[in-house]
Amino acid sequence: GMKRKPFVGGNWKCNGKLSAVKELLTAFKGAGADAKSVDVAIFAPTLHIPAAQECLAGDAAISLGVQNMSKTGEGAFTGEVSAGQVADAGIPYVLVGHSERRSLYGETDEDCAAKTKAALEKGLTVVFCIGEQLAERQSGKTTEVCEKQMKAVIPVVTDWAKMVIAYEPVWAIGTGVVATPLQAQDTQYQVRRVIRDECGSEIADSVRIIYGGSANEKNCKALGDLPDVDGFLVGGASLKPSFTEIITTAQ
Ligand code: G3P
Repeated sequence: GMKRKPFVGGNWKCNGKLSAVKELLTAFKGAGADAKSVDVAIFAPTLHIPAAQECLAGDAAISLGVQNMSKTGEGAFTGEVSAGQVADAGIPYVLVGHSERRSLYGETDEDCAAKTKAALEKGLTVVFCIGEQLAERQSGKTTEVCEKQMKAVIPVVTDWAKMVIAYEPVWAIGTGVVATPLQAQDTQYQVRRVIRDECGSEIADSVRIIYGGSANEKNCKALGDLPDVDGFLVGGASLKPSFTEIITTAQ
């Protein structure tokens, strides 16, 4: 059937100095991404976002996002950034539930749902991350794990147009071991099936499900051609000018 509009995210994680922001974004701007045929979002370190906004001013093709956000509103929550503050700063995207947040900072399915709810209430677009660990894949639990992660968030989703699902198998993140096209397609088909079962075909057919985990300019063509892979969430390869090749391949 008709392919959905591709989405390509670059997750810079906690990398880089302020001085690198302009250099990389200038390279990305030169890629000629066409806002009509691809959505691009860079998830920069929060401190670097004002510099990134200045650099991207007037560029319709590349948007910005934060990598994490508070599940609470404003108030006495030292060290947190609220959804309202993200929206007020003119930042349209937020990553929720990245495996590093789940595993290193103890974020639960409930935390991820609360963050998603808070973000959608403020009109942010959520890139919601799910994915199984190596032992779970090896014991045949991949679908079950992804289904549980999805079912924890589905009840709070009030606007599916503002949701992108990122399937990131934990064993593929930062390892150089990319999922095979068969693994990515099988799993993302199942994730879409869960959405279809819970929310119906109209939503399932329109929501973007993107792949993350050692995606790069070389392997993105084979993955992006798959029926249920609607783009990428890129870590390491988004810290290099060649990230532009992933954008142009996707669009
Ligand atoms: O969020 C993207 C990330 O987890 C994937 O990282 O370095 O394997 O592309 P990487």
